[in-house]
Amino acid sequence: MPIDRETEPAALPESVLDGGATAVAHPNIALIKYWGKLDERLVIPCVDSLSMTLDILPTTTTVRLTPAVRDDTVTLDGKPATGEQRQRITAFLELIREMAGRSERAAVDTRNTVPTGAGLASSASGFAALALAGAAAYGVGLDPTALSRLARRGSASASRSVFGGFAVCHAGRGIGATADLSSYAEPVSVPDFDPALVIALVNAGPKTVSSRAAMRRTVETSPLYKAWAISGKADLTDMRAALSRGDLEGVGEIAERNALGMHATMLAARPAVRYLSPATLAVLDSVLQLRADGVPAYATMDAGPNVKVLCHHADAARVADTVRDAVPACSAITARRGPGARLVTGAER
Ligand code: DP6
Repeated sequence: MPIDRETEPAALPESVLDGGATAVAHPNIALIKYWGKLDERLVIPCVDSLSMTLDILPTTTTVRLTPAVRDDTVTLDGKPATGEQRQRITAFLELIREMAGRSERAAVDTRNTVPTGAGLASSASGFAALALAGAAAYGVGLDPTALSRLARRGSASASRSVFGGFAVCHAGRGIGATADLSSYAEPVSVPDFDPALVIALVNAGPKTVSSRAAMRRTVETSPLYKAWAISGKADLTDMRAALSRGDLEGVGEIAERNALGMHATMLAARPAVRYLSPATLAVLDSVLQLRADGVPAYATMDAGPNVKVLCHHADAARVADTVRDAVPACSAITARRGPGARLVTGAER
């Protein structure tokens, strides 16, 4: 499959590939965050979100049909998946089988370059790749919107990794099938905006509370949640305008306030959900210092202690050095905007 289009995933092949299908997808980082679900079973977000797909840390997933085998087999980074991870993947395959009207089991092999469960969006790249490879292996033809909707059923953030560059995921409206149809991602066209995102990895271990459990607790108990969800609407409008102006300072300020607001809603949950560690705060201080020194740099954090710093490419090396100085155990990697999910063939597999 060609890799030349950023905003649309490559078309599905006309027939199932021999030996299954392999897809590659990249993580995305939300500049306007999704936090909270309208419907947990259908994985429907309460709020709109907007992200940048990265050009690093891809997930590669192969799905092969195994008609002679009774159960799905799932391998994650070379090891058999167990527990909730396995269950989420087999439940997702079940959705694809329903769409295909087929019952054969499958073997799934997933390789991540992003640490799983560390708030670095492994579920976004993972379910985007699984949706594309799974749909191809079972011969289900989906347009980009339908593929994004399917990926959302695995993890709402995965709906955005179907697309490259910038993408917006629409919150659900209504209930049941209506809500399911209403929530999907689509590309936001900002061809000339290409910032750097320095990922300050202060802790690559798995998170202490899953984002799923944390967002449920936040929606159910945080008195700040509603206010944040409402202010997020204005953040999204302002973000679209800043993106279309190519205004890095504007984009960064809005992303930072939206992310801090999301963490404030979690801190006000009962009991509190706190992903931010002392190392996170040290990185945030260093970002403030960079700005005081005249370097436009803005932070965003997800369901984990790691910090992603948005800046100009020309400043990325200085930003990376600064965060490493602030937290000596921290490593920093720099990303830029990356491609959407795509099928791969031949040697690339
Ligand atoms: C903080 O998409 O991982 O990264 O839909 O429950 O699988 P589920 O959650 P997930 O949550 C991502 C939350 C976030 C913000 C974002 O990416 O928008």
